[in-house]
Amino acid sequence: MVLGFDEELSATGIKPSCDAQAVVENGCVKILSNNLLLLELPNLWLRDNCPCDDCRVTRTQEKSFILSEVARDLCPDHADISDGYLALTWPDGHITNFELDHIFALSRPRHKDPVNWQPSFSPGYFDWTNFLSDGNYACLAIQSFLEVGAIILDNAPQTEGTLELLAPRLGPIREVLFDRIHNVCIDARVYNVAHTPMALPPHNDFASYSFPPSVQALHMLQNDAEGGKSIIVDAWAIAESIRAERVDFFDSLCQFPVPFREFDESNETFAIEPLFKCDTAGNIISVRFSNQLMQTIDPMQQGVSLFYEAYHDLCCRITDVANRCTFRLQSGQVLLVAAHRVLHAREAFIPSGRRHLQDAYFELDNVANQLIQLQYNYKVALA
Ligand SMILES: [Fe+2]
Ligand SMILES: [Zn+2]
Repeated sequence: MVLGFDEELSATGIKPSCDAQAVVENGCVKILSNNLLLLELPNLWLRDNCPCDDCRVTRTQEKSFILSEVARDLCPDHADISDGYLALTWPDGHITNFELDHIFALSRPRHKDPVNWQPSFSPGYFDWTNFLSDGNYACLAIQSFLEVGAIILDNAPQTEGTLELLAPRLGPIREVLFDRIHNVCIDARVYNVAHTPMALPPHNDFASYSFPPSVQALHMLQNDAEGGKSIIVDAWAIAESIRAERVDFFDSLCQFPVPFREFDESNETFAIEPLFKCDTAGNIISVRFSNQLMQTIDPMQQGVSLFYEAYHDLCCRITDVANRCTFRLQSGQVLLVAAHRVLHAREAFIPSGRRHLQDAYFELDNVANQLIQLQYNYKVALA
């Protein structure tokens, strides 16, 4: 929709409105400046997005106009530009005024791009008490979390249920099977390999849900065992490396449906989903990987051979020590991961001393919203 516009136009102060013209043509209103086509705005888009009070719920700014109120071949009678505004008159007399800068702003990304891990990457450490009590400090921590997908909160209480205290900062806990707060220790109920001293390959939890939890908090209450270092892996970087080197593998991992199941005697969650998901612009938004929850694929399924070659490649990269960040999660530390991006793993341990971890889940949309709230509160405090 936005054609030929670059940041320079506004950065140099050349407001497209100064010498711009509006031309109604072929179902669109074209905005031209010095013969350069800046915008091509479909008539229905223009009518649908009318910002006037008649077309909006004024108190909430939600749209109240719905497109079925007009004909598909709707065309404005007049389109004029003046003082940075595009004014349109519709056949029924309705008038729409758009601020052109608002239209140009639509092409700018709403969120910052994720930041790639450097070879020596280590998640940032943030103090638990400051995180909960100091809004500016929490902003820095959450920004870092949203950029790289992992941080560690240090000096947390070593008591059960501590993760409940994170809700004011991360949003409400997302409950999934089997508990609200999950205990990971060898004397917990064994419904998962995590409840043994065995090593855990990189994975995200609850791949058996259609929409697995997008944030996981892993709280080490006590770590007196030998071994059992924690590992995190940037699965998005791995997916990008596959896309760069084997686009056929990448496409298979984006398309081939894979079953996952988490269950006990009386419960089951089951989802069939591809391992990679992209947004409509092709950016990776989710990697689903759980060797332990993955179920047997129907071998008659079309594309299974290519999928298995791609899956072999993916497993090799995910388990490659060069792609992992390894550290010991100490008693009183909480590892936070953006779980659709960052896989977590654990080395095997010898239960010479107790190792007790608690898990809880949150949602990344709520964490991003918490950042908006903190920034808003900060601005209010300054005002
Ligand atoms: Fe896990
Ligand atoms: Zn209107």
